[in-house]
Amino acid sequence: MDLKIREINNNVFYIGSKDANRKLFDQLVPLPQGTTYNSYLIKGSEKTAIVDTDYPKKLDEYKARLQENNITKVDYIISNHAEQDHSGGIPMLLEMFPEAKVVTNAKVKENVMNMLHVDEDKFIVINDGDELSLGDKTVQFIIAPFVHWPDTMFSYIKEDKMLFTCDFLGSHYTKHELFADYSEDLVEAAKRYYAEIIMPFRNFAKKYTDKVKGMEVDYVLPSHGPVYDKPQWILDLYADWTSDRVENKVVIPYVSMYESTTMLVERLTKKLEAAGIDVKVFDLVHCDEGALSMELVDCATVVLGSSMVLAGPHPAAVTAAYLVNALRPKLRYYSIIGSFGWGGNLTGVIENMFTIIKPEKLDYVVVKGQPRTEDFEKIDVLAEQIIEKHKAL
Ligand code: FEO
Repeated sequence: MDLKIREINNNVFYIGSKDANRKLFDQLVPLPQGTTYNSYLIKGSEKTAIVDTDYPKKLDEYKARLQENNITKVDYIISNHAEQDHSGGIPMLLEMFPEAKVVTNAKVKENVMNMLHVDEDKFIVINDGDELSLGDKTVQFIIAPFVHWPDTMFSYIKEDKMLFTCDFLGSHYTKHELFADYSEDLVEAAKRYYAEIIMPFRNFAKKYTDKVKGMEVDYVLPSHGPVYDKPQWILDLYADWTSDRVENKVVIPYVSMYESTTMLVERLTKKLEAAGIDVKVFDLVHCDEGALSMELVDCATVVLGSSMVLAGPHPAAVTAAYLVNALRPKLRYYSIIGSFGWGGNLTGVIENMFTIIKPEKLDYVVVKGQPRTEDFEKIDVLAEQIIEKHKAL
């Protein structure tokens, strides 16, 4: 149990928790390095505030950390977002500091009241642009809906140019002490996080990337992962990921029961790679969904491969199609390839899952049993189609 608190700058402290052994987020997202739940303490000359709290399973440690460091007076609990990995400690803090008020926007207030049963009289509701004085520090609030929940907001200490961005610009990364190490590992963790959490709201993320770039910010303090003392680094990555630019890349998630679909995937991969296209293949039986999501950030084309189970696609392919649609990547083209034994509808079920994204449909190649020469020729035609489309990117 790490009970240290760490000063970031000028009486602003990190008081959150590291959870390096956690394996899964939301019972869905793999966490190769675990994660952190960032909570911050701001000591003003007159008032003290905490920005976001801690994950419910970490509250004993969180409480011990506050007690160990003699934090005996908190006037405000600023809640940037109601999801319980950040709001989970609000009831406990209100017990420890009965005079404290929860300062947040109307949507967070409603969500916290529903999720954690906090009384209405505990809240101070703010609007976009409102300010809260802590004496020598002024916290300004920026409502930033859908980056990533409708309730999301940022908080900004004007005097110190410190911006608390909630889940935006975060990462599930635990190799740091406090500040970002700006390593390739961190790029990957931040990109995975962007893909899983923020990409479905790409247009909002783009808007707020531009907004933060236009502000005077010396520190970005997200609610997961390291603090950025060079904010431009993460903002430049976000500017790229949220842009309309796609790479000369094809992602092929596939599942194959008797290797027929595998043979199609291998033929396609070989043809595309020979043309200089970056191909990322994911066997869905052993797939890290986070790694797949990360490749969707900037790929131009997805080719989904599937065997038939009963009269429809393999459930693993259906799950992958659901994921692709839900994450809303800036995909331009897609195709479906696969093999069946006796009949059914392989492509229709998958195609109908693209209810949100509308990539351009390329040729499908679905074969009966093991592929024959003419089937491989159809894969070659599909490869040529993709190569031509990618030339125009
Ligand atoms: Fe949306 Fe980290 O919570």
